[in-house]
Parts: sequence; C-alpha cells; structure tokens
Amino acid sequence: MGSKNSGSERGFETRIVQAGRRKALTGRYVNPPVHRASTILFDSYAELREGVANIFDTLFYGRLGTPTQWSLGEAMAELEGGAGAWLYPSGMGAITSSLLSLLKTGDHLLMVDTVYEPTRKFCQGLLQRMGIETTFYDPALGGDIDELFGENTRLVFVESPGSLTMEIQDMPAIAEVAHARGAYVIADNTWATPLFFNPLAHGADISVHAATKYIVGHSDAMLGVAIANERCWNKLRAASLSLGQIAGPDDAYLGQRGLRTLAPRLKTHQKSGLKVARWLVGHPLVHRVLHPALEDAPGHKIWRRDFSGASGLFSVVLSGGKLENIGSMVDHMEHFAMGFSWGGYESLILPVDPAETRTAVPWVAPGPLLRLQIGLEDTDDLIADLDAGLARFQKTTGR
Ligand SMILES: Cc1ncc(COP(=O)(O)O)c(C=O)c1O
Repeated sequence: MGSKNSGSERGFETRIVQAGRRKALTGRYVNPPVHRASTILFDSYAELREGVANIFDTLFYGRLGTPTQWSLGEAMAELEGGAGAWLYPSGMGAITSSLLSLLKTGDHLLMVDTVYEPTRKFCQGLLQRMGIETTFYDPALGGDIDELFGENTRLVFVESPGSLTMEIQDMPAIAEVAHARGAYVIADNTWATPLFFNPLAHGADISVHAATKYIVGHSDAMLGVAIANERCWNKLRAASLSLGQIAGPDDAYLGQRGLRTLAPRLKTHQKSGLKVARWLVGHPLVHRVLHPALEDAPGHKIWRRDFSGASGLFSVVLSGGKLENIGSMVDHMEHFAMGFSWGGYESLILPVDPAETRTAVPWVAPGPLLRLQIGLEDTDDLIADLDAGLARFQKTTGR
C-alpha cells in the first residue's frame, strides 16, 4: 500500500492537495470512490497466480486495501518522504504494529516518559509479556540517551511534544545515537502532522499518526497511519498484514478528505491557539502555559529549529487549587466541551494529572493541569469562556 510518488518542486500545500490523487486510483473523480471489498475476483488462473506473486502491487484481497486506502497511503508516504505507508483502524493500531514490526523477545526498548498513556500501557503489558523490556527516559535527553543503551537496545520511541506536558525532543540527536548503536527510531507525529514536522527527515525510521486527530479533522472517524523509510518499509507492511491491520475504506476516505484541508485548518488552530495561550500567560491563576511556541516552554529552541509551526493543542498549569474541585470550572463551560480526543474543529478542555503516568521524571505542579484543544471558533468567545471558568475555580481556592 502506498509507495511514494517521485520528488517534486511543488510547494507543500500544493502537495497536500494533490498527493495520492493519481488517475489510476481515483479515476476521473476528484476524490477516490469508496471501494468496499473483501473479495476481489480474478479472470483467469494465470491472473490469480500473478496476484499471489505480487500481493502488494495488485488488487488482491480486502485486507491489502483497495484504491481508496492506497490513495491515502500514497499521499502520506509522499508528504513525509517515506518508502511507503500503511493504514490502521486507529492511531494505537499504527503504534503497536510499528513496535511489533521491529521488536522481538529479548530486546530492550527506550520509551519517552511523556508518551501517550495507552502506548506506555502497551509496553508495560503486552511487550513485557513477550519478554521485551522497556526503560522510560526523560524527554529532555538528547544525545545523552546513549547512557541508557545496552547490548540489546533495539528501538527508541519519541513523542514530540510529549503527551499532556508538551516537551519537544531533540530527535536528530537521539536518532544519531540510536543509528550508531544499530537501533531504530519510531516517532509519534500526531501533534505536528506532516505540515509542521517531518520525522523521517530528522532521523526517524517510522513516523506514526493518530490520523483520528488533525488529518480526519472532524471528530468522526478513527484512523492510524505509519510511514516507513526504505530500511523499515518491508518489515512494517509484512507485520501489519500479519496482524490483520487495515483501515476500512470509509474511514480512509474520510482521512483523505480531511487531509486536503489540513493546511488552512492547522494555520487557524495555530493562530487561535497562540492567542489563547498568550492570554492565559497573563492570568493570575495560571502558573505556566505549556505551549511549544512560547519562549519558556520545554524544548522551545528545538521546536524553533526543527518544526515549522504549532497545532492547537497545549496545556496550562494552574497556580493553585485542587483537581477534585475542577468541576466548578469544566462542568459549566459554554464553548469548551470535555472529551478524550483532540484535532477536530471544536474546542475541548481536559483536566488531567500527569503524575499518574510518569516514572522517569516525577511531575510536580502547584495546581491542576488542563489540556486545551483550541478549535475553529471565535477566540474572543473561547477567552471569555476560560475567563469565566477560571473565576469559578478561583472561588474554590479560597484566594
Ligand atoms: C499522541 C497520540 N498518539 C496516539 C493516539 C492514539 O490514537 P487513536 O485514538 O486513534 O488510537 C492518541 C490519541 O489520543 C494521541 O493523542
């Protein structure tokens, strides 16, 4: 699924619009039709034999995809400069399949401490049961990660920025060490999307996305994508096929439809997110705003060096009060809804305690943390909503 198109001089936003829309895949339609299929028919025994010999390059069987899935796979591989891309029914499908494609019993994995919690649980659960040992590492480690390598360290997993606490990692420094040690690098690029960061160009071997977020962009489908370089592509697609991983054509269709408007949506998320973040910086009940584009954010200099933008997800640490009282704020918001996702057009607020999911670097903060997804609404409405919510919460702090 999804070999890359040849390189081109086109601007990136032109490529977002055009990638994967070959006539052989989409026909004369702008968007690829939704080809729903399990069974694909052959006209002759010779054609069937030919298919068996080239399963990845012919219409063969539904689990290998149809032109609907191939079109999005090609687009993602082109946009991140990979040898190919595979689609999954969720971001977690992309993450777990990528890990399983490169790891075996007896291997050691270096996993960033600020990783998305279900990825952490996968390491502590299934991978541990398979005899794969995980060490969680400080996201601030760049090249010093070398000290954590052992004889059997096979893989480093990077998520930049970190889940909830938004630390940007020095991926080129980490990848240099990992490759010198003969190890692989997988990067979760969900936050930046192909528009704002290219993991493969910064040393990753596989880039994974919860396309559920900004790529689908409308909170109505689950979808994962993994893009691999030449070194890992055959391993990734063989493992993904064996694991029975494939996104359905309807979800792949929604993913490619969302992809085409990624750039203008993300630019608005970025602009509005920064406006709200800067407003929060000046609020008396705010201890710290964790937004990679703010100067004092962890890893900000690396963000400036390696990323070309910031999406609409960031966190705010309050200067006091208790998480158990946060309902006074979040239960009565007018525009921010509460939910465990992000990346759609709507604004979301999520109170969380990062301390529960940190083992390498303890999380210490004077007050609760709120993760905010800034959607496409009017920022004045969002700011007024936060202002009123913080005033309600302040009453519970006795200040
Ligand atoms: C950074 C990150 N990676 C991966 C995932 C998993 O994606 P999905 O929910 O599509 O399985 C999420 C979901 O929230 C996420 O935030």
